[in-house]
Amino acid sequence: MSEKKKYYITTPIYYPSGNAHLGHGYSTVAADVVARYRRMQGYDVMFLTGTDEHGQKIEINAGKEGLTPKEYVDKIAGQFKKLWETLEITNDKFIRTTDDYHKKAVQKIFKTLFDKGEIYKGKYSGWYCTPCESFFTKAQIEEGKCPDCGREVKWTEEEAYFFKLSKYADKLLNLYKENPHFIEPESRKNEMIQFIESGLEDLCVSRTSFKWGIPVDFDDKHVVYVWLDALTNYITAQGYGSDDDSDYKKYWPADVHFVGKEIVRFHAIIWPAILMALDLPLPKQIYGHGWLLFGDGSKMSKSKGNVVDPKILCSRYGVDAIRYFLMREIPFGSDGMFTNEALVNRINYDLANDLGNLLSRTTAMVGKYFGENIPKERKEGNIDSELVNMASNLRKEYEIKMNEFKFSSALGKVWLLISRCNKYIDETMPWELGKDEANKPRLACVLYNLCECLRIISILIKPFMPSTSEKIQNQIGAEKDICTWEKANCWGELPSDAKITKQVSLFPRIDVKKEMEELDNLISKNEPQEKVEDSKDKINENKENDETNLVKLIDIEDFAKVELIVAKIEECEPVKKAKKLLKLIVNDGQGTRTVASGIAKYYKPEDLVGKSIILVSNLKPVKLCGVESHGMILAADCGENDVKVIFVEGIEAGSKIR
Ligand code: ME8
Repeated sequence: MSEKKKYYITTPIYYPSGNAHLGHGYSTVAADVVARYRRMQGYDVMFLTGTDEHGQKIEINAGKEGLTPKEYVDKIAGQFKKLWETLEITNDKFIRTTDDYHKKAVQKIFKTLFDKGEIYKGKYSGWYCTPCESFFTKAQIEEGKCPDCGREVKWTEEEAYFFKLSKYADKLLNLYKENPHFIEPESRKNEMIQFIESGLEDLCVSRTSFKWGIPVDFDDKHVVYVWLDALTNYITAQGYGSDDDSDYKKYWPADVHFVGKEIVRFHAIIWPAILMALDLPLPKQIYGHGWLLFGDGSKMSKSKGNVVDPKILCSRYGVDAIRYFLMREIPFGSDGMFTNEALVNRINYDLANDLGNLLSRTTAMVGKYFGENIPKERKEGNIDSELVNMASNLRKEYEIKMNEFKFSSALGKVWLLISRCNKYIDETMPWELGKDEANKPRLACVLYNLCECLRIISILIKPFMPSTSEKIQNQIGAEKDICTWEKANCWGELPSDAKITKQVSLFPRIDVKKEMEELDNLISKNEPQEKVEDSKDKINENKENDETNLVKLIDIEDFAKVELIVAKIEECEPVKKAKKLLKLIVNDGQGTRTVASGIAKYYKPEDLVGKSIILVSNLKPVKLCGVESHGMILAADCGENDVKVIFVEGIEAGSKIR
């Protein structure tokens, strides 16, 4: 038997400087989806996550609680592990940088680099931000404030070891050139190139001003400074630098490091340079995903007016609903807003209405007309062939999206089949067929087709919603052997003696108004928080006022407030329950964003994909029929019933229009 192909995926190792929150959950769920997907495909997967436990911030936070740093990180690392259990994360290993094997390996790595002349002793002076544990040059700081967090920076001088990062500039640029997918999405690669081209400085890799770190064993005044300690986790966790390095030999290099966009720089510049200096293979890809933004537009989940505690969310709505929402709502490379209302709407529309109803209608009809089993009759007409083809081709389309980490689009493809199935029920009207005994064979065929579609759907949603997938398989009586990846593009697998059972509904519908009130109560009970910003207010803010028919002269300053850029349409689909709207995913040169546009009457989605348009890019987000729109597309009103989008050609996405 040939050996299984390996797949190694990692999340960042998180700082246990505060509790694990939904933002951490976002990266970890995404990595878990990929790990489960690859396992389903038969890969030998190594999925690593963990905690990054050294540094001054932790030392300070522990002191505030009257704990030693180790007591403090033990407590919080435990909370991270608990959250991963709640979210049904299937990591194979969990590394803590305070683990002994890691500390020893880091000391060895440090010494090797020193002996090779890649690390040297010098003096560091610069502007230091304590919370970010980073030095900045004068050019980088903004009015005495840290460019990353905006807090005060202090002039600091100390003896330190340096890694010769600057000498790797050309090698790194070459690496990106020769491996165009090394950094994804594309926009992040451009940022890295610019950063390197503006001049790389050697990197401070030791500190003497605090003690909570791995000691440099040949100079114990120094502790290893965060990034060399943190980044090396990806190899030390597999045994690099330890006696047993068999997992390192088996799994390294990693297939992908998932990281938030703010730490792409460390992963795409410092990490490969360290590996080059050690003469070790480089990871295949760094994927910098976007941020989950919370109500007030901030990245942190200390949100106002939103219930964001992942434990509360999971217990209210179920783990699968949360996992689904995180992966469906926001394209992975882009930022996106988390709101309770959007979550509840997704649960109602996608999970209760579309998927839940399809399953309950199908199993109820099988029960009503055939008892437990569907007879073997499987005649096909044109309408059946269309459904069968769509279902059999789904795996291929899903796979393309999954391999590019386009989770939202992959789920979108599955939901197209779910919608098609629901439409198929309306078209074939099984309840009419059931009235006449002569139509029973046809009825059996219709219901069989629906069950087969549900089997395929259950396989493809499994990485995202493992329990839901299993529930569906139980209800349609599909045994494990026909619910595999290999069988996801085969038709007619469900045997005629499959026992179909109707059980409780997968996702009960939620009364949105009542739920929002309950959440408000929950918030006010816990701590005083500002009220949830009502999306209706946002729409009103953007609504045209009565003066739109008058020509109103504006100052040039007013016009200068509007940011117009060229953007390229990557994906487009109609918006449910809004005939006029199309939902577009556009690339704005920095990443992708969602825009809703009232042009469905004039354009089909396929007419738009691949075209470049002009986007008003700095509009406040507004929610239109459940779609959070981040901008507006320029189109010409050419009179009654004619609207023409302004397309542009030969101009790169992200270019500003002046
Ligand atoms: O940076 N939206 O740890 P960290 C999406 N220890 N992702 C979010 C998020 C949000 N609002 N908030 C956090 C560190 N994340 C270092 C990493 S790796 C060798 C060392 C996720 O606790 C996202 O993946 O600050 C981000 O990069 C990471 O948590 C930052 O976690």
